Amino acid sequence: MLEAAERVAHRAHAPYSKFRVGAAIETADGCIVEGCNVENASYGLTICAERAAVFRAVASGYHAFVRVAIWTPTERPSRPCGACRQVLAEFARRAELEVLLGCQGDLVDILTLAELLPEPFGFEDQA
Ligand code: THU
Repeated sequence: MLEAAERVAHRAHAPYSKFRVGAAIETADGCIVEGCNVENASYGLTICAERAAVFRAVASGYHAFVRVAIWTPTERPSRPCGACRQVLAEFARRAELEVLLGCQGDLVDILTLAELLPEPFGFEDQA
């Protein structure tokens, strides 16, 4: 999973930050869907790698995820941004959606989405 995330990070469109991020999602039916960050000259339109992977997965017909690997070009594993945590929560089949964090260095962190985002806004909060 982390190898897939690193591979796709090299396809990122990141001419402004030069920070190339890759994400690989494992769906409940065992498929791997990848995404990378895509920046824009109008900076605020940038999409993170994690959300790019989620949207691609949904467009491919997958709505339940069990694991996501994220790779950043750093010495230590980075954490996903808050917006991506909330978007992942929408499709986490279980609260324990596993989040693998890898980087250029040797360190790998393994967390759950519940640890990263303990109380997401959810469907039931709209009642
Ligand atoms: N970025 C991601 O792809 N994922 C994150 O979780 C945080 C940040 C991207 C967005 C932008 O293209 C670059 O990293 C610098 O913020």
